[in-house]
Amino acid sequence: MRDAATREVAPATPPSGPPRRATIRDVALRAGVSLGTVSNVLNRPELVAPETRQRVLDAISDTGFVRSSAAHQLRAGKSRSIGVVILDVANPFFTELVRGIEHTMVEHGYVLVLCSTDESASREQRYLRMLEEHRVEGVLATPAERDLASFVALAERGVPTVLLDRPAPPGRLCAVTVDDARGGELAAAHLFGLGHRRIAFVNGPATIRQCADRRRGARRAARRAGRDPGDAICEVLVPSLTAEQGEAASARVLACEPRPSAVMCANDLLALGVLKGLVARGLRVPEDLALVGYDDVVFSSMLSPALTSVRQPKFELGATAAGLLLEELSGAPHEHREVVFAPELEVRASTMGTARPAARREGRSDVAPSR
Ligand code: RIB
Repeated sequence: MRDAATREVAPATPPSGPPRRATIRDVALRAGVSLGTVSNVLNRPELVAPETRQRVLDAISDTGFVRSSAAHQLRAGKSRSIGVVILDVANPFFTELVRGIEHTMVEHGYVLVLCSTDESASREQRYLRMLEEHRVEGVLATPAERDLASFVALAERGVPTVLLDRPAPPGRLCAVTVDDARGGELAAAHLFGLGHRRIAFVNGPATIRQCADRRRGARRAARRAGRDPGDAICEVLVPSLTAEQGEAASARVLACEPRPSAVMCANDLLALGVLKGLVARGLRVPEDLALVGYDDVVFSSMLSPALTSVRQPKFELGATAAGLLLEELSGAPHEHREVVFAPELEVRASTMGTARPAARREGRSDVAPSR
C-alpha cells in the first residue's frame, strides 16, 4: 500500500462481463409478469390492467429497457425511417432543406437516414440500394444526374419517392422545385440593370439541371437587355459547386477578355470562393467587380460585403416535399404532381456599393448610375 499522497485505490469490482442492453425478459422478471404481458404493454396497452401496466412501466424505467425498432420493423415490415438523398451535406442549402424535411417528418414519428452523394451517380445508386435494403418507407432525393430511371423504378417497387429541387417525369413521381431559369435571369438582369456590360458566370456542369436552367435564364436576361449573350456573358465552368472551386475560378474570371465588371455564381459557396480569390488579388467587391450568388444561405448576409443572392425557399422546399411523401404514405388517393416555387433576388452590398461598371470606368455617360 503506498502513502496517502499516492494511495492506490483498490479497483472497483468490475461489472460482470461487458455492459449489455436490458431485454424484454429483464423487464418481465422485474415486474413479475410474462413476456406476453410486457409485449402487450408496449403494443396494446389497453389489454393490460392499469396496476399491471404501471408495474411494467416502472420495470422498463428501472431497467433502462428501450424497445427495438428492428424487431418492430420485422413484425410490421416497416422501419418508420425515410431516406434523404442530397448532393452535398457541406452545402448550407441542403442543411436548411433537410431541416424542413425533419420538421415535418418528426411530427409523424419518422426518423431520417441522410445520404450525401457528392454529385456522384455511382454513390447515388449505392445509397438507393442500401436504403431499400434497410426498408425505408419512402425516399426524398435530389438526383445527381439527369437520368431518373432509378427513382422511378424504386417507386414502382413500392418505395414512394419525391424529388427535391428537380422536376420529375410528369405523372411518375412527385417533385418540389424552384424556377431556376427565372433565378438565373434575376441575377443577370440585376447586373445588366446596374450598367454592367460584361459579366462572368461561374457555373457547374450542364449535367446538373439546376446549372443548365440558371444558364438559360442568364442568357435570356442578356437578350432582354438587347445584348448578345456570347458577348455579354463570359462562362467559367467548374466541376462542382464548392467554395474551393469558386476560389480557383476567380483567376479565370479575371482572365476573361474583355474583363468583366461583375460575376454571378451558380450558388453561394462558389461566390464565397470567388470573393476570397478576388480579395487575395487585391481586388474590391463591388468597387472592382460586383458579385452575385445563388441560394441566399445563412452566411450570405453576414459576409463583408453582404452578398447579393437569389433566395431559394429552402426550408419550405423540404417541408413541402415531406408533405407530399406523407400524403403518399397515408394510402389516401394520390396524384403525382410538381410544386414549383419562385426565387427572389436579395440585393445587398456586393452589387449595390460603389460599383463602377466597366462602361462607367471608361467615362461613358450612357450607363444607368448604380444606386
Ligand atoms: O447542389 C447545387 C445547387 O443546386 C445548390 O447550391 C442549390 O442551388 C441547388 O439548387
